[in-house]
Amino acid sequence: MVAKAKVSELGYIGFTTQNTDKWTNFLKEVTGMQVSDKADDGTVYMRIDERHHRFLIHPGEEEDVSYFGFLVKDEQELYGIAAQVEEAGITVTPGTKGDRESRNVLGMIKFNDPTGFPVEVFYGAQVAKTPYYASRESSGFKTENMGLGHGVIWTPDLMGSVRFYRDVMGLVISDGFVGRAFFMHCNPRHHSLALFQQRPGVNKRMNHFMVQYNEIDDVGLAYDIAEKRGDQFATTLGRHGNDQNVSFYVTNPSGWETECAWGARDVDDEVWQTEHYGGKGDPYWLHVRHANLEMGLGGQRQPQQSR
Ligand SMILES: [Fe+2]
Repeated sequence: MVAKAKVSELGYIGFTTQNTDKWTNFLKEVTGMQVSDKADDGTVYMRIDERHHRFLIHPGEEEDVSYFGFLVKDEQELYGIAAQVEEAGITVTPGTKGDRESRNVLGMIKFNDPTGFPVEVFYGAQVAKTPYYASRESSGFKTENMGLGHGVIWTPDLMGSVRFYRDVMGLVISDGFVGRAFFMHCNPRHHSLALFQQRPGVNKRMNHFMVQYNEIDDVGLAYDIAEKRGDQFATTLGRHGNDQNVSFYVTNPSGWETECAWGARDVDDEVWQTEHYGGKGDPYWLHVRHANLEMGLGGQRQPQQSR
């Protein structure tokens, strides 16, 4: 099956935490995001650009992701995705009025992917009435037509998940490492979604999300602020071989990771060919993983294909 309808960006990520204040401060202080809104149920909406929100922090028991929200261009495309998901044998639930109001969108559907991961697809994202102002000195985030950045989840069935997001949702494989990880795009951003094969000891669905700054100075500033705050770094500064971004990973208040990045290359589907990273050697200066962090891919030094 080749997907006719396609998602166009990773538009928002929702997650739950027992401490929304701690999370809000982390995103404001370390990343520079702006608080956009707060709902009566305690949900905090965070902005990084002209959109009303890109991240939704929901009060809850679990310290984990709740859903990914993928954007489609219009209502017809939403119907197209819904039909493809149904054709794949998955029940699609239309978003209720309450759902649409919660997400500030014109229309949406909800379903679980083949591994049970909650997915939302929407169109008509609300544009904020006021300009975006960073919470700290910042060059701003690179979003444009490329979505919020990227989200990475663990999956118990790597190739089953890859087939679903490729054949049903319309994403394209950027590169892959059989048995371990696949990176997928739906716009010029090298990957909006990455899938990691779940391994023993990993008990969350979320691995990390990445936000990309316009200037490298923001990565350095985020690093300095996280250090001063006493946040736990998951890796050192490094450059990935596949998307070629310069970044570091910091452990966020839920115990999974946030990647602050700059300088990723774009992909062009007219010429892009699936790549494969493997073999020995370190062609790029790499993120050195701090020891004993269960949410990471493990080990001290990961070759460039790891993210
Ligand atoms: Fe990443």
